[in-house]
Amino acid sequence: MDSTARTLPASGRDLGEALVDWYATAARDLPWRRPQVDPWAVLVSEVMLQQTPVTRVEPVWREWMARWPTPAALAAASPAEVIRAWGKLGYPRRALRLRETALALTERHGGVVPADVAALEALPGVGTYTARAVACFGHGRPQPVVDTNVRRVVARLVHGRAEAGSARATDLTDVAALAPADPERAVRFSVAAMELGALVCVARTPRCGVCPVRESCAWRLAGHPAADGPPRRVQTFAGTDRQARGRLLDVLRAAPGPVEARLLDEAWADAVQRSRCLDSLLVDGLVEQTPDGRFRLPA
Ligand code: ADE
Repeated sequence: MDSTARTLPASGRDLGEALVDWYATAARDLPWRRPQVDPWAVLVSEVMLQQTPVTRVEPVWREWMARWPTPAALAAASPAEVIRAWGKLGYPRRALRLRETALALTERHGGVVPADVAALEALPGVGTYTARAVACFGHGRPQPVVDTNVRRVVARLVHGRAEAGSARATDLTDVAALAPADPERAVRFSVAAMELGALVCVARTPRCGVCPVRESCAWRLAGHPAADGPPRRVQTFAGTDRQARGRLLDVLRAAPGPVEARLLDEAWADAVQRSRCLDSLLVDGLVEQTPDGRFRLPA
């Protein structure tokens, strides 16, 4: 952890210690958290979990790990195979990016997932969050791992604000300041903070009554002030381009070979939106057109 962490008063670390103790009793038993899980499996899980709930990820992650247990195995798969295997997890560009990550790992790292954050961040498709999650949960290196849930926990617990607002340069040091000094406990703290945000310190209906750090929570002590920003938008799905793209991809996934445009017409009624979405799928490399004008997943 960094120098900020070492100079902070004990109370910050005490909060981290309390979260680790809570985690031991309250954590979900998720397959990618088991001790024998290797860094590659952790990397795949983290990419899948970024925009998708645990319950939807779990079966797909199991299938992926059985089929592509190493970066080399995934690097040898075709784009069409990985897009099909992504199933209905959503945001399917992640499937192509994982394949590119696997290719980079085989070409640059001998098929091994590095433990160093800078080396991880240099991989295609691996950002600040994923690099630290893999170093920490995959390699057991203490790192602040800051996702949306953790930012909300810190906003409330430390800063007394209902919501985190947009990402800030201090997010990593804020979290590092709470980590226990013992490296193994610091690793568990990183997942414990995520788990608190996922199970207790949730966005809309926080369960402060069962929170292990409620006595020290700045937000609770301030009387739970409301968020001061604009109200959060509820994400709609019905009728969006995301839904339309999903429908078009469903048709191509289910087809054994290239399909006529007519079949895609049946998948989405609005012709303007359909055409826009098909174009964007082509641009994203999720779909390709055959010389005779039909459409398929990229070979
Ligand atoms: N455990 C480790 N990383 C996780 C994540 N991103 N979501 C849920 N559980 C996790």
